[in-house]
Amino acid sequence: MYLASIRANCFFAMVISRHGRAWRRWAIAFIRLFREFTRLSFGTKRRVWQLSEQHDARLFRGYICITYGEDYVMARVSEKVILVTGAARGMGAAHARLLIAEGARVVVTDILDADGGALAAELGNAALYVHQDVSEPKSWATAVAAAESTFGALHGLVNNAGVASMAPIEQFPLDQWNRTLAVNLTGVFLGIQAALPAIRRAGGGSIVNVSSVEGLRGSPGLHAYVASKFGVRGVTKSAALEGAAFGVRVNSVHPGLVTTAMSEGLDPALFPIPLGRAAQPLEVSQAVAFLLSDESSYMTGAEIVLDGGLTIGVPHKCAALEHMFS
Ligand SMILES: NC(=O)c1ccc[n+]([C@@H]2O[C@H](COP(=O)([O-])OP(=O)(O)OC[C@H]3O[C@@H](n4cnc5c(N)ncnc54)[C@H](O)[C@@H]3O)[C@@H](O)[C@H]2O)c1
Repeated sequence: MYLASIRANCFFAMVISRHGRAWRRWAIAFIRLFREFTRLSFGTKRRVWQLSEQHDARLFRGYICITYGEDYVMARVSEKVILVTGAARGMGAAHARLLIAEGARVVVTDILDADGGALAAELGNAALYVHQDVSEPKSWATAVAAAESTFGALHGLVNNAGVASMAPIEQFPLDQWNRTLAVNLTGVFLGIQAALPAIRRAGGGSIVNVSSVEGLRGSPGLHAYVASKFGVRGVTKSAALEGAAFGVRVNSVHPGLVTTAMSEGLDPALFPIPLGRAAQPLEVSQAVAFLLSDESSYMTGAEIVLDGGLTIGVPHKCAALEHMFS
């Protein structure tokens, strides 16, 4: 049955791409009817042939795009070229994997060349690894140029690279303070500065800056990290105000505790996380993909908090409160 529906949909897709407007309207109406028919006849969501509104729109441009239930996940960022920094491992690698699964081509950058190269090799032709220290202005010119020369354009940037170090404020080493701000904050600033003209050349796009819950509140010992992540949150908003005129959206994400090398050794049980666990990197990637996709077309200068509820409550030490509702 579904082979028959492929043939029928392909036929109508060809009709749509080759004939005039009236034909297109009739053919799309028929495809929608056909979709409803197959939805009714198969019954379950998983076995339904779907041609989404987005795919209908693509048919206007002569593409054939058919999805089969959940086996063919709708490509949320197809045809977009996205640069992800600090993508050799951890959350950056998860973002790169998901974005490619969602149809993008991704420039993976990092200072960890062996890990970054291995990831790009695993991801195939849709990925390119470029060595990049985000705190170096020249490295940004190289990375953006690589995106444009290899994939033809740049539509999106994920400023994900980051470092963290801990010490009491009285002993906090100046070199660690400077390095953390150079990577986490200056790196984001340089990234926006380098990517903006390229994204404008591509006709607009989206920049996602990875902040943290530490960009929303203080945390003992994490002074440089907190300062950098508050800075990322701020520059996101000022860049969003300028980018809007050129169709470039800029948003920040604020993860709580996420299971990566950076949080190794931190016990989730020590944090008052209402959902009771750390996040998996993919749970952050889903929000990043959303912000890069046209699904978030009316969002700019916004903050998405992914913290399992960590920052929604007032911390307290009163044991009586714990048992108030038990
Ligand atoms: N893990 C968490 O709990 C957590 C929570 C909130 C926010 N974050 C943020 O998420 C982002 C990703 O962190 P992660 O948890 O995946 O950590 P991670 O340490 O696994 O990944 C960070 C990546 O950044 C790269 N990097 C470091 N310095 C760089 C530089 N100068 N130039 C280019 N790349 C560099 C590292 O090599 C590494 O691949 C960071 O910005 C981090 O601050 C992490």
